[in-house]
Amino acid sequence: MKINLIGADGTEQQLDAVEGWRVMEIIRDHGFPIIAECGGACACGTCQVEVDPTWQAKLHQPREDELDMLDQNYANEWSRLSCQLIFTPELDGLRLRISEVALADAA
Ligand code: FES
Repeated sequence: MKINLIGADGTEQQLDAVEGWRVMEIIRDHGFPIIAECGGACACGTCQVEVDPTWQAKLHQPREDELDMLDQNYANEWSRLSCQLIFTPELDGLRLRISEVALADAA
């Protein structure tokens, strides 16, 4: 199973994905710059990603605490916290990019 990660230059890389892992963990495990400062507790917003619009319907709706954290971190309509997305077989091929906000936090 794979996640397609879109880079800042528009190129895509395929990341091996593991069922049951947080999307944040998969991205970080491949060495990409995502701080995930709170370790997945939905308390920092530094794991923000933008999910391709064609994949939005396959994601569960964000909980209130995720929405609150996104509101505090310059999110747009495609933004999610990657620590709140648990990878499942239905998400094989998920296409996303690390948000500008998360990249700036990691710089
Ligand atoms: S890792 Fe902190 S909100 Fe996702």
